[in-house]
Amino acid sequence: MAENDVDFGTNGEHALSPRSKDAPKPLHPEGTSRIQFRDMAAKKKRVTRSRSLSLSSTDSYSSGSYTESFSDDDGLTPRERLQENSKGCGEFCVKNINQAEFGRREIEIAEQEMPGLMALRKRAESEKPLSGAKITGCTHITAQAAVLIETLAALGATVRWCACNIYSTQNEVAAALAEAGFAIFAWKGESEEDFWWCIEQCICSNGFEANMILDDGGDATHLMFKKFPSIFKQIKGIVEESVTGVHRLYQLSKTGKLTIPAMNVNDSVTKTKFDTLYSCRESILDALKRTTDVMFAGKHVVVCGYGEVGKGCSAALKGLGAIVHVTEIDPICALQACMEGFRVVRLEEVIKYMDVIITCTGNKNVVTRQHLDRVKNGCIVCNMGHSNTEIDVASLRTPELTWERVRSQVDHIIWPDGKRIMLLAEGRLVNLSCSSVPSFVVSVTSTTQALALIELFNAPGGRYKQDVYLLPKKMDEYVASLHLPAFDAHLTELADSQARYLGLNKAGPFKPNYYR
Ligand SMILES: NC(=O)c1ccc[n+]([C@@H]2O[C@H](COP(=O)([O-])OP(=O)(O)OC[C@H]3O[C@@H](n4cnc5c(N)ncnc54)[C@H](O)[C@@H]3O)[C@@H](O)[C@H]2O)c1
Repeated sequence: MAENDVDFGTNGEHALSPRSKDAPKPLHPEGTSRIQFRDMAAKKKRVTRSRSLSLSSTDSYSSGSYTESFSDDDGLTPRERLQENSKGCGEFCVKNINQAEFGRREIEIAEQEMPGLMALRKRAESEKPLSGAKITGCTHITAQAAVLIETLAALGATVRWCACNIYSTQNEVAAALAEAGFAIFAWKGESEEDFWWCIEQCICSNGFEANMILDDGGDATHLMFKKFPSIFKQIKGIVEESVTGVHRLYQLSKTGKLTIPAMNVNDSVTKTKFDTLYSCRESILDALKRTTDVMFAGKHVVVCGYGEVGKGCSAALKGLGAIVHVTEIDPICALQACMEGFRVVRLEEVIKYMDVIITCTGNKNVVTRQHLDRVKNGCIVCNMGHSNTEIDVASLRTPELTWERVRSQVDHIIWPDGKRIMLLAEGRLVNLSCSSVPSFVVSVTSTTQALALIELFNAPGGRYKQDVYLLPKKMDEYVASLHLPAFDAHLTELADSQARYLGLNKAGPFKPNYYR
């Protein structure tokens, strides 16, 4: 297989190629102005989503957004409209620039709950550690992401940004960023063609050529790797947030095709503990409450998988007085669950009595049709893991079962005998589909991403090779320290003698890299 034919993804859900003869062609022919190009694009037949969009690009995602409350129906898609902000700049493509004011308010609200990132902005603004960095950003475009984007710009970077998910963009936030002069290419409900076009606008366009990537899901990295190999080779570093994107980077590295250093933010302690454990601990309840109106005290819940996500879900439901059961394949995690007072069971042993089933394994077919045939009437079934195959939802789409959409993200599935189960978010990540992610948690992850970019961009030659790295522990500690003032938390300083006794530098790192 030629280098450019490498299938960057391995799970088939993500990969654009090699099968992808429909991979985006250069959509911006030389000498064609952007406006002209939009006109051309408008004439092209619009394609609907297909399986070549990654799972993470299509999982719906909600937030406290005004996005739905605007009427933009002049019948034109964003790419068909001429767009300009109030300063006459048209280097962006959003749903409706007139929503900018609302978006700005959303961003200001997010800033209040993102103390670490704001502190980093304040501290490093004068040094401009990202001066010269040209970043292609591909993340959810939310108010919290806007705080990151504006922080990176304040630290000296030039950025172009697109969405990593066709549903998750807060249109008013994209508008606010465009109004502030950022090259944003994103709107809620992009088609597949739009999705790849937007990414392409952020890789090289109008004199911009990226030298850094900040990715969530690996799609921007993938497109650059496949379509712009010469730019890809010049990149100083990739920062990747998602499990899937990181997995793809390791695959590339294993096959010797990763030609640049990459930072795995997904496995940094700041992400695994704060984003995964604490955030899921809160958002599982939010998602369940918003969708079901059910009281959880005294209910029987089974949590499949007792990793970080499972630990968060189990603790949250226990806190509400639910009786929590855990399934595990790993004896260590199983023992941890026992030590927390949870019953470790096999799913088939308890399935008949469960009121709620939550999958958090990252595995597939954990809850099968056979299981669901045995659950009791009214059982709530949902998934917190990455993939919508943890619950075998496909097996429920058979003629004898009736699906009834009872409210947004809630389906009743009715068996011939009248039994019904409540499936949330069609088995996709329930918290991302049905609740909002706390800004504070995003602040921790975003600060980590910003520091990873600074580190890769400024690292002396040779510090990072063509491989995937974890952020040095000292930086994890720095991220945490930036958030402590929000709690008026006062760290104890090591005395010189204590530092010598423990063999530590007084300024850290205080733990080895493997510490979690
Ligand atoms: N919803 C969210 O916001 C969110 C946040 C972070 C991660 N995730 C996703 O949640 C999933 C779990 O993440 P994690 O960080 O807890 O991973 P993890 O690896 O720490 O935990 C998963 C656990 O599931 C167990 N497991 C695997 N197969 C199983 C099976 N068949 N039955 C029972 N247990 C099984 C594993 O032993 C492991 O302990 C991943 O898919 C991850 O991408 C979701």
